[in-house]
Amino acid sequence: MYKIGIVGLGNIAHAYSKPEDPYPYCHAGGAKLSERVEVTAVADLDEGRRQEFNELWGPVKLYDDGQKMFDEEELDVIAVCVRGPLHEKITLAALESSAAKVIFLEKPAGCSLTEVDNIHKAATDKGTLIVVSHSRHWGPHVLRMADVIQDGLIGDVHTVVGYCQGGPLSFSVHEIDMICQFAGYDPISVAASTGPSTKEEDIPDGYEQEPTVLGAVIRYESGATGVHVGGGTSSAGAFCVDVFGSKGRAFVPFYGAPKAWTGKGKEEKEVDIATLDMPEKASPFLVAYEEIADYLDSGKTPDCGPDMYRPVNEIAFGMIESNISGETISLPCKKRDRLIFANG
Ligand SMILES: NC(=O)c1ccc[n+]([C@@H]2O[C@H](COP(=O)([O-])OP(=O)(O)OC[C@H]3O[C@@H](n4cnc5c(N)ncnc54)[C@H](O)[C@@H]3O)[C@@H](O)[C@H]2O)c1
Repeated sequence: MYKIGIVGLGNIAHAYSKPEDPYPYCHAGGAKLSERVEVTAVADLDEGRRQEFNELWGPVKLYDDGQKMFDEEELDVIAVCVRGPLHEKITLAALESSAAKVIFLEKPAGCSLTEVDNIHKAATDKGTLIVVSHSRHWGPHVLRMADVIQDGLIGDVHTVVGYCQGGPLSFSVHEIDMICQFAGYDPISVAASTGPSTKEEDIPDGYEQEPTVLGAVIRYESGATGVHVGGGTSSAGAFCVDVFGSKGRAFVPFYGAPKAWTGKGKEEKEVDIATLDMPEKASPFLVAYEEIADYLDSGKTPDCGPDMYRPVNEIAFGMIESNISGETISLPCKKRDRLIFANG
């Protein structure tokens, strides 16, 4: 069994789900369902949170500080589940002190592109893989639809439309990843409008408040276009994509069943999804930890590693730069030091 240590014991570490949930949306729940990984140690500043975690998911070794856990435990995977402004500091400390081969870092990867670069460089130097938790990516049906579309179900993909409100780093980064999952991870530019956040929060010195995405157009090297529809609530909900190809189209929601159609105009026919060998429903965190275990077994690259999370972050920060400058931003972004309070 590969050993996981979790830093930060809040919602996404465990509190979004209960141990008995069949499809948990949290690290502890996904790990509990896997026969290849187990949570053996956890760290949180808060005594109550440590005890609560231990009662629900333990027994595990408890630490009041991540550094002590990195120093004392032999871990294979470290899950960084503190809030965004702490990601760089805690990930760099883990890289410095632990021999863990994988860091499963919650989104957002960093609060500036410089932070994302620093994490990437330190991880590359150490030979540690960073996987960023763009967790809607790991819906089993989402992964399967990406595969069958890649294999040509609807021809060549030319446009992917995604729908999500909220901050490009703290929330709609999931949607940006889903757009890339179907359009590709080769973005070359983004043009976006953002609006002020509706969150009431104190912004620490040095940070800017994270805006909300109103709309964006992403262009890809492949020739594909991504359209991010933001703003308020959408009838399509969030975390879903409409994928348009040369020979058909598909609708892929994270929550709910996918649909696809082949042919155009009067020739259009709905595809019987049952013929596409769709996998059973499963916790995205179970799927992610299984991919991480595959990597530890055989070196097979999991999803949401550097080739995926870095372009996604370029788009997210590029959206903010585009709204400020009023221009289309070529990617990778030139400006890398803007510090956003991405505290989701
Ligand atoms: N993948 C997803 O869908 C998803 C969903 C929600 C949150 N998130 C991300 O997960 C991260 C955590 O969000 P959350 O809602 O679980 O936060 P939270 O506030 O519920 O939990 C954070 C925990 O970190 C602890 N903590 C703070 N500083 C610490 C330190 N220095 N050392 C150890 N522990 C410390 C706090 O005591 C708290 O228990 C954020 O980056 C957020 O964006 C991801």
